[in-house]
Amino acid sequence: MAHKIIVTIDGFSSCGKSTLAKQLARELNYVFIDSGAMYRAITLYFLRNHVNHEKSAEVKKALHNIELWFEFNERSGRSDIYLNGENVEALIRDLLVSEHVSAIAAVKEVREFAVDQQQKMGEKKGIVMDGRDIGTTVFPDAELKIFMTADPAVRVERRFKELFERNPDITLDEVRINLEMRDYMDSNREISPLRKADDALVLDNSNLTMEEQLKVAHKWVKERLKGE
Ligand code: DC
Repeated sequence: MAHKIIVTIDGFSSCGKSTLAKQLARELNYVFIDSGAMYRAITLYFLRNHVNHEKSAEVKKALHNIELWFEFNERSGRSDIYLNGENVEALIRDLLVSEHVSAIAAVKEVREFAVDQQQKMGEKKGIVMDGRDIGTTVFPDAELKIFMTADPAVRVERRFKELFERNPDITLDEVRINLEMRDYMDSNREISPLRKADDALVLDNSNLTMEEQLKVAHKWVKERLKGE
């Protein structure tokens, strides 16, 4: 069987991590996992069920009742996330979830719950996972670690376009404030804050097309597979 590796893609919100991870996984015939979707689905559950994330007993009880899994969607070419049997892929992208997810993702029990499942998904390798702590905490021994960045103004614009399609009332300012807040919270939380792993390669895609960034990442994978 061909040698398979683990590729981790970390970085700030709306850098295009998932887009690259999805394309790379398709090209390599690997599994793509959007770890942020897991934190978002947990957040959706907490919001719906009025779970207070500051109360440890409430959090533990809620996590006990949460089952998450991914299923491949032929139409979108990526895996959708299911929360207790319901496809919540679209719902978890709402601004309301985005506003609460960083606080909930900072909770110790929530991280342990998600990281444990993520590590199991990588047991057989052949996986591309994107997030904030994948190269530092989830797979510290991954063969290829990519840290993505992009100009903040470019990120706001990209995110705005994506959200505007579903919600024409949204403003550029709302999107900018949410991104700034999440960047700050994700980088400054106590457990597994967002940071570049020492051995990660930096990919700044402010001025790259999707094809160009895929080419760069693919070249890095080939180098790793050759053992360079
Ligand atoms: O990638 P995203 O924007 O969908 O992630 C949503 C939130 O989840 C993000 O603000 C921080 C959190 N997250 C995290 O803490 N660790 C990860 N590995 C992935 C996401």
